[in-house]
Amino acid sequence: DREGLLLAIETSCDETSVAVVRGGREVLSNVISSQIDTHRQFGGVVPEIASRKHVESITIILEEALKEAGVGLSDIDGIAVTQGPGLIGALLVGVVAAKSLSLALDVPLIGTHHIAGHIYANRLIGDIVYPALALVVSGGHTEIVLLESEGKFRLIGRTRDDAVGEAYDKVARALRFPYPGGPYVDRLAQEAKEEIVLPRSWLEPDSYDFSFSGLKSAVLAEINRSRMKGEDPDFSALAKGFQQSVIDVVTGKAIRAAKQFGARQMLLCGGVAANRGLRGKLAELCEAEGLPLLIPPNKLCTDNAAMIAAAADMKWRRGQFSSLDLKAEAVMSL
Ligand code: KG4
Ligand code: ZN
Repeated sequence: DREGLLLAIETSCDETSVAVVRGGREVLSNVISSQIDTHRQFGGVVPEIASRKHVESITIILEEALKEAGVGLSDIDGIAVTQGPGLIGALLVGVVAAKSLSLALDVPLIGTHHIAGHIYANRLIGDIVYPALALVVSGGHTEIVLLESEGKFRLIGRTRDDAVGEAYDKVARALRFPYPGGPYVDRLAQEAKEEIVLPRSWLEPDSYDFSFSGLKSAVLAEINRSRMKGEDPDFSALAKGFQQSVIDVVTGKAIRAAKQFGARQMLLCGGVAANRGLRGKLAELCEAEGLPLLIPPNKLCTDNAAMIAAAADMKWRRGQFSSLDLKAEAVMSL
């Protein structure tokens, strides 16, 4: 076992992030530069703009991360980078930067899966006990993943249409919130007194897959129905109905999967793990089942490079390095 000082780079979407992490767990720095203010005016992430912004920011963020960690480039033992999945032009910026550093410093390169990063963000706050069940909920992903052992992933279920965060953002738009609207819908749902009960999309009885586009359409249909009657739609009751439906289904399926596969721990991760209702409900259900639960703090739930270092560290210790012809991959399986 080696205790490496890894420098990690994450540029898969609209955050440019560089982190310095020792031994896969001790975060010396985790600098995140969000482009959200630029993309907000377009109502979503514009891939070409994201790539350009990464190019502008990467060296500045790199310098900041080293400075904050109090180390120099010569102290770095390995370079970790998000290889995929994500926006190809955005990924390429990080991959090229990582290869250049690896070559210049003559240290190993470790390509890392973005979702493995989200899952192993939990390693930065606690010990993972295998088999563990991970519920991955973000703007781009909604997956139930069984971690059979360290680094061994089995995809149990996934969304067939929108990701949870994507559904939140679309509903938020209908409720006239700015992008990304997930946190606004969460807040409105928490404050709501009334609830408009919306359908739950369980799919086939034994399925661990998800579908959220029907739920999103149900929200839009309710808004239209009110307007046709000349009434103002009750946005807070709709936000609550939407949030309750999402939470019931994702927590229900995660708990059922944990039982079926004999998980000894539940891991929640991804940007939507910041949702207060979701955290609360999953905590309640896990407690009832006697299942330990880990949820990273918000900064480690949304896209960041420290989580990439946490996942890469396990490959680092096993000597699973990537070659310099590593390719960024827009679509990549775990
Ligand atoms: O993981 P993340 O930062 O980026 C992706 O890899 O997608 O997740 C961002 C997503 C956005 O869709 C955002 O609206 C959602 O997470 N989100 C929330 C909350 N905070 C962030 N959704 C619901 N409730 C929240 N509190
Ligand atoms: Zn992500």
